Amino acid sequence: MSDARAYHEAELAIARSPNDPRRMLPPLPADAKRILDLGCGAGQSLIALGPPPNVFSVGIDLDRDGLALGATWTSDVRFVCGSGDSLPFADKSFDFVFSRVALPYMHLPTALGEIHRVLAPNGRVWLLLHGPRIVFSQLAAALRAGHARSAIFQSYAALNGVLYHFTGRLLRWPAGGGRYESFQTRRVIPRLRQAGFADVQVDTAHHFVVRARKA
Ligand SMILES: C[S@@+](CC[C@H](N)C(=O)[O-])C[C@H]1O[C@@H](n2cnc3c(N)ncnc32)[C@H](O)[C@@H]1O
Repeated sequence: MSDARAYHEAELAIARSPNDPRRMLPPLPADAKRILDLGCGAGQSLIALGPPPNVFSVGIDLDRDGLALGATWTSDVRFVCGSGDSLPFADKSFDFVFSRVALPYMHLPTALGEIHRVLAPNGRVWLLLHGPRIVFSQLAAALRAGHARSAIFQSYAALNGVLYHFTGRLLRWPAGGGRYESFQTRRVIPRLRQAGFADVQVDTAHHFVVRARKA
């Protein structure tokens, strides 16, 4: 079995285990009839949440292999290959958009604008983000292991998190691939407000969870 497939299967097992402390899924709003999982991987979250059959569920990701695997697990989710930087959906297409640990790998200002665009008025968003501790612990691990390339990349992600905190801007990884990575802080609250969201709530007690509503 490939590493990627084993990873996706392990994530599905976590998503399906209510008592696993790593499991963190959004509560589905009862009135949401059109749901988007942005950066869905193989669709583990939507599969585990199991929205009612009258709910239109879409998962989008850049990873074609993950999407193809997800399509072998369920026919209840429409899998779409695409980027959070340019969502291939019409304005106001969804009542609820959630994203588990995918925005830290995107250009956040653009992705937040896209989420806002595809949400219906009063639509809700739920985001699981990366706090600074994750990036700095990965940097420390790379330094301890003497992995220079990984340490350089994690230094970039750490600097990008600091930049986003203070300016709301992000830099693309300069070595190519169009990659982004950063961490987030509570300053994401004014960033969401600037992007047109209201009722922004951040919970960092165990995981870094952001909830908001399209104003
Ligand atoms: C850490 S994984 C999380 C996957 C899934 N949300 C989960 O909870 O298991 C991050 C995901 O974000 C996806 N991703 C990264 N950048 C993306 C982009 N610009 N647009 C869409 N998906 C992206 C990756 O392909 C990957 O599947």
